[in-house]
Amino acid sequence: ETIDWAPEAAEKGGYDHYMFKEIQEQPVSLAQTIEGRVEDGLDLSPETLAGVDSVQFVACGTSYHAALYGAHQLRSWGVEATASLASEYSVYPPPMEDALVVGVTQSGETADTLDALSVAGDRGATRLAVTNVVGSTAARESDDTVFIRAGPEIGVAATKTFSSQVVTLYLLAREVASVVTDPPAAAALDGMDELPDAVETVLDGSRAARLADEYLGEDGHFFLGRGNGVPVAMEGALKFKEITYEHAEGFPAGELKHGPLALVTEKTPVFAVCTGRDAGKIESAIREVQTRGAPVVAIAPRTMTDIVEVADDALTVPAVHPDLTPILTNVQLQLLAYHAASSLGRSIDKPRNLAKSVTVE
Ligand code: G6P
Repeated sequence: ETIDWAPEAAEKGGYDHYMFKEIQEQPVSLAQTIEGRVEDGLDLSPETLAGVDSVQFVACGTSYHAALYGAHQLRSWGVEATASLASEYSVYPPPMEDALVVGVTQSGETADTLDALSVAGDRGATRLAVTNVVGSTAARESDDTVFIRAGPEIGVAATKTFSSQVVTLYLLAREVASVVTDPPAAAALDGMDELPDAVETVLDGSRAARLADEYLGEDGHFFLGRGNGVPVAMEGALKFKEITYEHAEGFPAGELKHGPLALVTEKTPVFAVCTGRDAGKIESAIREVQTRGAPVVAIAPRTMTDIVEVADDALTVPAVHPDLTPILTNVQLQLLAYHAASSLGRSIDKPRNLAKSVTVE
């Protein structure tokens, strides 16, 4: 018996879609991102952090969600940090004296991000590009560059590059904190080396395919989180809407009562992201939407039994350091979006109206 491989299927490693292949590649791509950097750091040039006292991230789309994570991480270590959508940053640029302006861009070619970096350059700020593409415009035009080393990504919906951005920004935050805070506030790199294996565990045991069918909502899908779970909730909603064409919204759990709750019904599944902190707040948000009849899926470390039990269903992840849990919970949401889109027969690798890299403003 011979297997008839279409050349395209071979490139996809035997999977139906690049997106699925790229999701599956994450244990390897993350290991590449981390390799050598836990001990030796990111190899920033000595000038990059000189005199810096705050960080301003600029980015679009998925990269913006990674940037939000980076800003949360820095603030958790007492360093002033913001994440801005690049298109808005340029409208009223903030004061940036002594700020390091970090452009987070997978392709290194997104026009809005390049524009924000150029505004920062005109104002004399030091600019760092965090990108996947060697030789990209962002890399060439910034003062310094860190490559995320995720390998090429073909699917329009960013997956493995988000995970590699998050890990890279964690490492960057740590280096910045070690310069800005005295004594250094950043913790030891607890469990970073175990991350690729933990992602493998999520990929092997995920129930996302089943839950994607069971929790497909008629009216919409809400993703909520708190703290470093907020970027995951926002990214989960973005991924979901990009490839399923179903309505999805991601926001901080605390905002539920300020608007979204009006839309919650038994036809709006809620995906509650818990990264290991603030479980009480997430639990009360879960109860609040359940009262309105919404089915709830918790995405949480398996050790957070209170959350897992109060929800109607759960996608669990191995317990790692809460700073790193966002990566694992996000992998579950990548799988959820993928399987929902697959059931709906959508054009997963090339969603309508979207491009991998948006080079116009
Ligand atoms: C496009 C892509 C997104 C991506 C965004 C930013 O909208 O479809 O997946 O997150 O651009 O791209 P960048 O290359 O700057 O990370």
